[in-house]
Amino acid sequence: MEVIICPDARRVGEVGGAKVAGLARQAGPSVVLGAATGSSPLGTYATLAGLVLRGELDLSGASVFALDEYVGLPPDHPESYHAVIDRTVTVPLGLDPARVHVPDGARAGLSTAGVRYEDTIKAAGGVDVQILGIGSNGHIGFNEPASSLASRTRVKTLTEQTRLDNRRFFASLDEVPVRCVTQGLGTILDARHAVLVASGAGKAEAVAAMVEGPVTAMCPASVLQLHQHATVIVDEDAASLLRHADYYRSVQATLLNEQGAGY
Ligand code: F6R
Repeated sequence: MEVIICPDARRVGEVGGAKVAGLARQAGPSVVLGAATGSSPLGTYATLAGLVLRGELDLSGASVFALDEYVGLPPDHPESYHAVIDRTVTVPLGLDPARVHVPDGARAGLSTAGVRYEDTIKAAGGVDVQILGIGSNGHIGFNEPASSLASRTRVKTLTEQTRLDNRRFFASLDEVPVRCVTQGLGTILDARHAVLVASGAGKAEAVAAMVEGPVTAMCPASVLQLHQHATVIVDEDAASLLRHADYYRSVQATLLNEQGAGY
């Protein structure tokens, strides 16, 4: 696992965007990106949007697969992940909406939503670069603690903690959906690269458990320790509980010295 510690959240977005852009260029014009929603990746998306705007990155042939969707929110609800991905990813990155996919959270057909989504990812050739955030309880996607480390896309129930964390996007806690369709941990592990971004002290415990704790379903993000190409980009606050922070800094300083910024 590569751990990059940045001075602040703004820099996390710049480094995250540069890292994803580099991997996208390597993958070629029909790169397949995996996209998280929430606050964490917004800076990364803004950096990518800037590169696209300046003609330094062309994502017009890219496909995108969102990680998750709430069950029961119509796609045109402003907080449905269909709408959020459209607003924060599809439009600013100049993507073809026909190639942007979000799990189907409609109650009708819910029992097949996971398999249908897995089939669509497979048909696209799999995800090249998966962009991730992390929940304060260590979830990635909406794989809450105790999720199977081998899980595939399916319906999950959100924890009270996650609903409280996401309450800020809704008028009241009652409006925060209780269930979701999320890519599984096994699905996320299949991505060829994983880039996780996190900032703020509220993520410090989860980040330490993910990077330095045991691989355990109680911290679902710890499954990334089994991924061959996982990059974790955090600010000082989110890194504050990492015991080996000095080592991660020295690795980055060595790389910078030898190759210039590796991202
Ligand atoms: C949502 C997702 C979640 C979020 C996590 C952190 O698509 O994948 O795992 O990344 O809940 O959310 P923020 O970034 O809002 O703190």
